[in-house]
Amino acid sequence: MKAGPLPAQIEFRAVTKMYGRMSAVKDLSLTVRLGEFLTILGPSGSGKTTVLMMLAGFVAPTEGDIVIAGKSVSAVPSYRRDQGIVFQSYALFPHLTVRRNLEFPLEMRGVNGVERAKRVDRMLERVHLKDFGGRMPSQLSGGQQQRVALARALIGDPPFLLLDEPLSALDRNLREQMQSEVKSLHREFGITTISVTHDQEEALTLSDRIVVMRAGQIEQTDTPEALYDRPATRFVASFLGEANILQNTDFEIQADVAQPPGTLAMIRPERISVVMSGAPKRTDADQRHSVIGIVDDMIYAGPLRKYHVRVGSSLLVTREHAASGQRTFQRGEEVQLEWLRSDIRFVAA
Ligand SMILES: Nc1ncnc2c1ncn2[C@@H]1O[C@H](COP(=O)(O)OP(=O)(O)O)[C@@H](O)[C@H]1O
Ligand SMILES: [Mg+2]
Repeated sequence: MKAGPLPAQIEFRAVTKMYGRMSAVKDLSLTVRLGEFLTILGPSGSGKTTVLMMLAGFVAPTEGDIVIAGKSVSAVPSYRRDQGIVFQSYALFPHLTVRRNLEFPLEMRGVNGVERAKRVDRMLERVHLKDFGGRMPSQLSGGQQQRVALARALIGDPPFLLLDEPLSALDRNLREQMQSEVKSLHREFGITTISVTHDQEEALTLSDRIVVMRAGQIEQTDTPEALYDRPATRFVASFLGEANILQNTDFEIQADVAQPPGTLAMIRPERISVVMSGAPKRTDADQRHSVIGIVDDMIYAGPLRKYHVRVGSSLLVTREHAASGQRTFQRGEEVQLEWLRSDIRFVAA
């Protein structure tokens, strides 16, 4: 789903959470739209979990207000709030079968036995665990347990889903598999989802919008594409992907727009091409900038080839797809780096 003129469902209004004299979350204002997949991304300790805990009602804001569907929920205890939550630790009831784990939230709502069984069957099928209803959580793999946790969070048809690093305990392959599963569940249920992670790849893959947090505050909020392509700050540029910060002292920085004061010039590694020093000018040479550097390192990364190239006092990183028959450069070799002037970005230092 694309971020559009969707109605607001959840609003944080100038929310602050203090622990003693330390603010875990500082003056945070944020609107979550109906049906969107919003990810809160940030390093450990940046306040992500605190935001989620306040939304869930487990932690009370020190200042500010949280509004859900137009109503302030500050005075509503968590057990009176209607929401599905999945945490990193699966938190399934270990002494109950998968089936009973899924039935539990329905039982709490007074759904009758026949209806319960029907809903559990349907849900087990949706998360590809049709034949696992009779198992105990300990008889499931990590990925399967996490799918049960997701199913249990969704089974009561909550108005929104909260995920706190639900995939971080899984190994890489399984994590990717679960990412696409979470994504298709979101598509299928259309449920507003707020997910917390420190994993930039997960955020880029899953989200309609990403909120980048740093030290309790929002650094930038935007779509994955916009955040990656137009990061506002150096922090965002280097937290989402790799960023080359270009030093003015090493060479003249030529860009299509003038450099605003207080900013740094940045270019993404994949926007730089490495060619032979003295290579003939390209037809679009007037739009390009080129500098001479010395290869410091060449790294094979499966389908990608990365160079570290020293230019003056800067070490620039490049990344390209390894094509067959392509000339590679060795450590110590002189090369020419080229980029389009329109690929230079200016980020706040
Ligand atoms: N119950 C608590 N008591 C005191 N400090 C806390 C508590 N919970 C979180 N913090 C502090 O608040 C900050 C933000 O924590 P948290 O929201 O868990 O960050 P994240 O989820 O981004 O890693 C951290 O410095 C953390 O140590
Ligand atoms: Mg956390």
